[in-house]
Amino acid sequence: MDPSKRQKYVLVTGGAGYIGSHTVVELLSAGYAIVVMDNMYLNDINIEALRRVERLSGRPVQFFKGDVTCVSDLQRVFSLYNFWAVIHFAAIKAVGQSTRIPLDYYYNNVTGSLLLLRVMKEFNVKNIVFSSSATVYGEPDKCPVDETARVGPVTNPYGRTKLFVEEMLRDLCASDPDWNACLLRYFNPVGAHPSGLIGEHPQGIPNNLMPYVIRVLQGRSPYVHIYGSDYDTVDGTGVRDYIHVCDLATGHVAALKKLDTKPGCVAYNLGTGVGLSVMEIVKTMEKATQKKIPYKIEDRRPGDIATCTADASLANRELGWYPTRGVEEMCEDMWRWTRKNPMGYDGEILVSDEDDDSS
Ligand code: WQD
Repeated sequence: MDPSKRQKYVLVTGGAGYIGSHTVVELLSAGYAIVVMDNMYLNDINIEALRRVERLSGRPVQFFKGDVTCVSDLQRVFSLYNFWAVIHFAAIKAVGQSTRIPLDYYYNNVTGSLLLLRVMKEFNVKNIVFSSSATVYGEPDKCPVDETARVGPVTNPYGRTKLFVEEMLRDLCASDPDWNACLLRYFNPVGAHPSGLIGEHPQGIPNNLMPYVIRVLQGRSPYVHIYGSDYDTVDGTGVRDYIHVCDLATGHVAALKKLDTKPGCVAYNLGTGVGLSVMEIVKTMEKATQKKIPYKIEDRRPGDIATCTADASLANRELGWYPTRGVEEMCEDMWRWTRKNPMGYDGEILVSDEDDDSS
């Protein structure tokens, strides 16, 4: 028998991306056999990211270039490897962009997930960890928000695609008790692997706060636009639950283990429960970088809410998962990645004297 048919693999769709690559590092170190399927829309960037994942973990990553919207790609990878579970990251995820090109978002995120699930069923693979988002809560009635909170109304097409796929998975698990799904609702992922080898590759003008602060620190933008200072929060600026991407990654390993217990369909918040304001993030980044960060207070950004923080006690209890990295580490690790990789995965890794402390 073909050896790859004996080994039981986990398929990681979108595994060459920011959260996917950090999760693959943790999966490999936990001893899982992994196949990454990625459409490599960033081409060499994604290849370099996977090369560094292998360098970090000291283990090979099986790679298959494919797109979840292509049934033949899906059927091909499922016929090549013996999968027992899928972690599904592959999606496009810019809130603002999703309001401009909603059809692309529904096609990639919803149709792509539907086609993946149909091929999983065809090959009798009925375990999935789904990359969802706290955006499904819309404007939560209360914070911290727990998984019993109502979902919706969601304020953008991106968030609706996540909600629609969650509903598909609920219906699927209800129709067939052999299906198991962990829906992981991320709050605000930031940071990078402490080695400085992998991180978030900068793409264009970022919508999210942390990558924009990095641009200002690199002198690529003159100042941080702080959207709103009149919210009912500690200092008037927006409060969010920032979670280190490595903590997010260990949450996926814990969710994969949970699938073994046949939980059916369960949603888990992956957050720290700690709310930090925009101003607090800026000040923490100034401390981590020892640089002044210019900013301007501007009007609120449409669709933003004052506060969104997680009650992650269900994940703590049922997954045995706890985030371990605080905001200082998030900022230090983000800055180390940036210093070593000023153009992300484009170009060589820079090694500076300061890196000696990054062992
Ligand atoms: C954080 C805070 C802004 C940029 C989004 C998605 C969510 C998830 C994470 C995918 C807010 C303020 C921001 C800036 C600012 N993505 N801000 N100046 O909006 O909480 O969540 O990203 O899953 O689904 O909705 O993140 O980083 O855009 O904003 O003042 O240049 O920073 O107002 O208070 P958000 P964000």
